Amino acid sequence: MSPLQTEISKRRTFGIISHPDAGKTTLTEKLLLFGGAIQVAGAVKSNKIKRSATSDFMEIERQRGISVATSVMAFNYRDKKINILDTPGHQDFAEDTFRTLTAVDSVIVVIDVAKGVEPQTEKLVKVCRMRKTPIIVFINKLDREGLDGFDLLDEIEQKLGLTVTPMSWPIGMGQRFQGVYNRYEQKLCLFSAHGKQTEEDTLEFTDLSNPELEEYIGDAAAKELREETHLIEEVYPQLDREAYLEGNLSPVFFGSAINNFGVKELLDCFIEIAPTPLPRITEERQIRPDEDQFSGFVFKIHANMDPKHRDRIAFLRICSGKFERNTNYLHVRQNRKLKFANPTAFMAARKSVVDEAFPGDIVGLYDSGNFKIGDSVTAGEVLHFKGIPSFSPEQFRFVNNADPLKAKQLAKGLTQLMDEGVAQLFTKDLNGRKIIGTVGALQFEVIQYRLKHEYGASCTYEPVNLHKACWVSCNDSEKFKEFRKRRQRDMAVDKDGQPVFLAESAWTLKMAQENFPEVSFHFQSEF
Ligand code: G4P
Repeated sequence: MSPLQTEISKRRTFGIISHPDAGKTTLTEKLLLFGGAIQVAGAVKSNKIKRSATSDFMEIERQRGISVATSVMAFNYRDKKINILDTPGHQDFAEDTFRTLTAVDSVIVVIDVAKGVEPQTEKLVKVCRMRKTPIIVFINKLDREGLDGFDLLDEIEQKLGLTVTPMSWPIGMGQRFQGVYNRYEQKLCLFSAHGKQTEEDTLEFTDLSNPELEEYIGDAAAKELREETHLIEEVYPQLDREAYLEGNLSPVFFGSAINNFGVKELLDCFIEIAPTPLPRITEERQIRPDEDQFSGFVFKIHANMDPKHRDRIAFLRICSGKFERNTNYLHVRQNRKLKFANPTAFMAARKSVVDEAFPGDIVGLYDSGNFKIGDSVTAGEVLHFKGIPSFSPEQFRFVNNADPLKAKQLAKGLTQLMDEGVAQLFTKDLNGRKIIGTVGALQFEVIQYRLKHEYGASCTYEPVNLHKACWVSCNDSEKFKEFRKRRQRDMAVDKDGQPVFLAESAWTLKMAQENFPEVSFHFQSEF
């Protein structure tokens, strides 16, 4: 193995996704504790923006600050280097999460045993399935009463469309929770509350018919566990790593993150089976991680909270080769060479300057406004990474300048916020008016606040009655011209000048689709 291949084989880059409150932050923290990346519980602050924060801007700012630190957390466990990419759980930031998912190689989905599959989980898993991202499921909070294990697996199969295979199985739950049987390692893990889990609580137990089982968990639970594991063997497929890697089979673990129970089992299985950095697709060709030449793409941009320092951090996922500090690289979109003096790596909540980084790693690049989401950086080859689309927004408002003396600042602020991916800006063909489109309502307030505090610009919003924005394309240029002319009042361009159809209602969209069958309507910017 070449030195580069050795580095690649050590890396596991993944994201944890869940509906808010299922336990993502808690699980992340416990994983970091295992890696020795943090010493005490509570070191990873939750970066979730709670619903109540809608009008509390300082809270949003504070949270943004925290989420820079916790955007990427790397730690070493055994001989592996693990990169966890944080994904905002709040639905108004779903687009941020979708983009982060382009930079991972696999995900762990956390589900609350009492709540089952929740809407945000459904949406995020759908995106993972579209990309065939391998998924491991962790069912959390077994120390509380919740749904029956089999019912939950049914729900996961039906609502998330996953084929599952339980790697562990719970013995009771809530007050009666005694632990799990780890089918993967054939071990009995006995539960003691309050995170007091020790190695001694885990026993080798290869044969469940062994009468010692009764001694550990009692007659009734032993009988039930034997029956249930028997049923599992009959109903669910065996773990097949290939099927998992292709996104066709999801191993399921049960545990309680807050009690640090079942987390080590999850991590041990994860590092065995999770994929090493995967190839990435560009418009030009497929990029293998073990290629000599460095390449990577920007999937997230984070503005500095301090208005006096306008620099931003662009998060770059390394896709191939070795990244080195102070080396000339090509910024493909701008066709110019850039050198990075202080690329940053993220070990737990600490940032430090790195001299080199490898495929699967994320580096933070200080940026004074050169980068947009989706930008490629390479050793010299012209490459455009695919799969970092904008999604069709669902909430729209006209944006007006409220301070005529600050028109320039407003324009600059809007452009930079859009490059960061906070929202999308559309310019109407007919009158040049600007419309902001977002996934959630919170962004409108964030934009107004940040324009004021970071750019000194003020804006007001005006309602606009729109249902959806769709990117449009057509192979027949004459027909396309006619469509754009006939529907001029509904047409706009996005920030890259691509034509967009702004549908007032589901019905207008349907009519346009029926009347112009040659035109394709797309719900994301990449098609
Ligand atoms: P999130 O990032 O997915 O939004 O969830 P987070 O980890 O913040 O967990 C949400 C709540 O669930 C927290 O309680 C957390 O303590 C609790 N929790 C996490 N894992 C378990 C578990 O295994 N069992 C039980 N019973 N609870 C768990 P909170 O009261 O909202 O916050 P906090 O005051 O405890 O921080």
